Amino acid sequence: MAKMRVVFTCRDCRQQVSQWAGRCPGCSAWGTIEEGARASSGSRSGSGPGFALVPAPLVGGDDVTGDNRVLTGFPGVDRVLGGGVVPASVALLAGEPGIGKSTLLLHLVAHLASQGNDCLLVSGEESHAQVAARARRLGIPGDAIRFAPGRDLEQVLQAARAERPFLLAVDSIQTVRDTSGTQMPGGVSQVRTCTDALVGLAKAEGIAMLLTGHVTKDGDLAGPRSLEHAVDVVLTFDGDPRSGLRVLTGGKNRFGAEGESAWFEMGASGLREIDPTGLLVSGEHVPGAATALAQSGRRALAVEVQALVGSSDGPARRQATGLDARRFQLVAAVLDRVAGLSLSRSELFGASSGGVKIDDPASDLAVAAALASAAVGVAPPRGAAFVGEISLTGLVRSAPAMVQRFAAARAAGVTTVFAPAGDVAPRDIEVVPVRHVLEALAWIPVPA
Ligand code: TYD
Ligand code: MG
Repeated sequence: MAKMRVVFTCRDCRQQVSQWAGRCPGCSAWGTIEEGARASSGSRSGSGPGFALVPAPLVGGDDVTGDNRVLTGFPGVDRVLGGGVVPASVALLAGEPGIGKSTLLLHLVAHLASQGNDCLLVSGEESHAQVAARARRLGIPGDAIRFAPGRDLEQVLQAARAERPFLLAVDSIQTVRDTSGTQMPGGVSQVRTCTDALVGLAKAEGIAMLLTGHVTKDGDLAGPRSLEHAVDVVLTFDGDPRSGLRVLTGGKNRFGAEGESAWFEMGASGLREIDPTGLLVSGEHVPGAATALAQSGRRALAVEVQALVGSSDGPARRQATGLDARRFQLVAAVLDRVAGLSLSRSELFGASSGGVKIDDPASDLAVAAALASAAVGVAPPRGAAFVGEISLTGLVRSAPAMVQRFAAARAAGVTTVFAPAGDVAPRDIEVVPVRHVLEALAWIPVPA
């Protein structure tokens, strides 16, 4: 049997302390610490000696299939989730530090709470005062949200069991510690243990969870990448921290399609959902800029790709922002060889508009057009966009989802699309069929 021991808990924020105190160290309220008791062991999972598995017939389950979804107030987030928050589901919100995970979390929690869904927000990243200040900045009435410090796993589990919220938001999974173990704080096994315990609680108590997780610059979740399998949904939040543009993309999703995305602008009072159509093309007709029609979830978007070619005395640098660095180098090498643009000793920079991540290989042709355009100082034809994956030999492969790409082209005011032949374009778009990358660069003047 679990041994009981006396603990003291704050009436307001559920912070637990080992001895009575006049002022709560969690929320700074006076006179709110009360005596209570909790089981000191064996309480986490309800399993262990004395508990037997009770098999049950395989019926029911309506509440976890997505039939009882709860909307977040952000249509894009609901779309990425597959139609809203599924009760008892666990989602991981991954992104680089400073990208806006805590802000998005607070927006979501605030909306859910305002619709009568109890939410408990625990943070090991920020104090009660910091989160309250952020809520004020976002214009959120903080009294609708319950908050507790979120550094100690056992305390978080206790608080969630006591409150039984519809949603438990944890910011971040890397700051939760299982103090009963001997694992290194912040280590991969700590993060895994804490996630497993939270997922267990979500499923046992029917609590939906949203956990934030930091990723490093090269996209590795410091620990959490290894826990993608443990959660139901993986969401990634990115963008260029210097611009206000943010994209939420759905990865693994047990309750919806992968690859959907939602677009936001980070402003002085938080995140606002936006329609990115036409936003990622400047419309400027300048050398070094070419338009890609890149796939983003089930739709496509016109995105401007920019390139800069500089001379270099030393080692030739290559830098790609938003673009796949490996494909950027590959396209440059192909151009160097088949178009004789002698890029190999030049410094090459590539970027997508707003630093938006493009990982669609069919954007290769736009990267090639931007690089060639920058190298010769001639802009691609007005109103043109480029679609197709480039092979090592310079051949251009056809791209899937051309219907969506043409729709994106039309929405962005594109009138000409350089693309492999075979797809029927809308009447107002002219397709220039290309089989080889050179055919997509025919607008480059032949050197005298
Ligand atoms: P934050 O949500 O703290 O990022 P993360 O949790 O991913 O580390 O957001 C960090 C940045 O967002 C910070 O640099 C300030 C900026 N920001 C705004 O521009 N507007 C706002 O309303 C808020 C709350 C933050
Ligand atoms: Mg944060």
